[in-house]
Amino acid sequence: MGDAAATQARVDAFLAEVTARLRPTLDKSACAGAKLGATGTAVRSLLWKWAGSATHASQLTAQLTIRRKALTSAFSKVEDAGGCATNVDAVRTQVFVDRLVADIVAAFGGSVALSACELRQVAQVAGIAVGAALAPTLIAAEPLYADTAVREFNALTPENVMKWGPIEPTPGVWNFAPADALVDLAAAQGMQVKGHTLVWHSQLPNYINFLTPPAMLRSFMEEHISTLVGHYRGRVFAWDVVNEAVADDGSGLRPTYFFNQLGPGYIADAFRLAHAADPHALLLYNDYNAEFVNSKSDYIYGMVQQLLSDGVPIHGVGLQMHVTANGSPVNQPSLAANIQRFVNLGLVVNISEMDVGIRALMGDQASKLAEQRQIYQDVIAVCRSIVGCHAVTFWGFTDKYSWIDSTFGPDEPLLFDDAYNAKPAYFGVREAFFNSGPFICLAP
Ligand code: XIL
Repeated sequence: MGDAAATQARVDAFLAEVTARLRPTLDKSACAGAKLGATGTAVRSLLWKWAGSATHASQLTAQLTIRRKALTSAFSKVEDAGGCATNVDAVRTQVFVDRLVADIVAAFGGSVALSACELRQVAQVAGIAVGAALAPTLIAAEPLYADTAVREFNALTPENVMKWGPIEPTPGVWNFAPADALVDLAAAQGMQVKGHTLVWHSQLPNYINFLTPPAMLRSFMEEHISTLVGHYRGRVFAWDVVNEAVADDGSGLRPTYFFNQLGPGYIADAFRLAHAADPHALLLYNDYNAEFVNSKSDYIYGMVQQLLSDGVPIHGVGLQMHVTANGSPVNQPSLAANIQRFVNLGLVVNISEMDVGIRALMGDQASKLAEQRQIYQDVIAVCRSIVGCHAVTFWGFTDKYSWIDSTFGPDEPLLFDDAYNAKPAYFGVREAFFNSGPFICLAP
């Protein structure tokens, strides 16, 4: 087969693949049929245009890679025109397109050289958003902190400043400035923002305890969610709507103040309120110790399945991934099976707060750092292997500032050391993104 025929065959295969992968998602929405048809047509014409100008397959490969962004925007434009797009469509499209392109390039036996190989570039070609939890005070105070954050990450999450206590310390009195600073930084640096978090039992303002009867708490929750999500409408891509609502043993919902006053329906209510305040935002349930298949993740799975069948606007699940290394390897099959079952419900999954403590390890420093690297690498590799695991956020990025030290004792759980040097863990993460695609790094 000559190059032209080979190119055509590959384009056809690509289109069949795109259609097959998008169909289950799009068929779920009201305007699916029209969207799918229009999307297919748009993508087909783009591809044929590029294929026509490519003299052989390796050129098409290069074209596809360079034009990845245009391809993505073709999908989202079509979806927007359908009038039923949310960020869920956008995120799925992004992941599908980026990974399909990477897969095709790989199948062609080609490789694409990257001249910038910081995490954000490498993650981008793997179709995964890579973020860190950040503090605006440190952005303002330490140039090295700010520079490293924007150089390495294409997403951010406010570590504390969007939580209820910090952002609405007095009823109706809002302290938006610190969170605004992060959202502005993200806009200037092309970073996605994930808001964290609307309803959680922790870091609440004191006045919460005086909100009785239940109707009063309900109206404050309504005001809180509507105002906060409304304030950031269009600028915050995703929200951790409800955080840590499930009991540690997975036996049921945690008896929080919200649960005790409002009953289990507070969860669905929170999602509906957030959706009304920003219909495009990706809405997530977030929790810890639910990364692998266990009784807690079983409960969460049942809970989100019920929410979906009740028509509640929930779009994804965040798995925190606060890990303490203890000598055992990551159970990759269990992590993969857990992520996959949520994806099979039509949800997206993100690793939302990853850090890997090494304080419990014996041995020398080099072996501790090597084990930490392996854990990071193994987790990211699983996320990369599942279309639908669309983002990874680390809970900080420099060991100089980690919540682990003050909460659990001195540790070095993150990707950069106190002096902002990349640790072995950093290279493990990067390799997991790289391994996934035929990309080579030309940068030193
Ligand atoms: C932590 C912050 O990192 C600390 O600075 C703060 O004192 C307490 O909260 N799960 C979550 C995060 O969802 O919001 C928590 O963040 C860490 C555990």
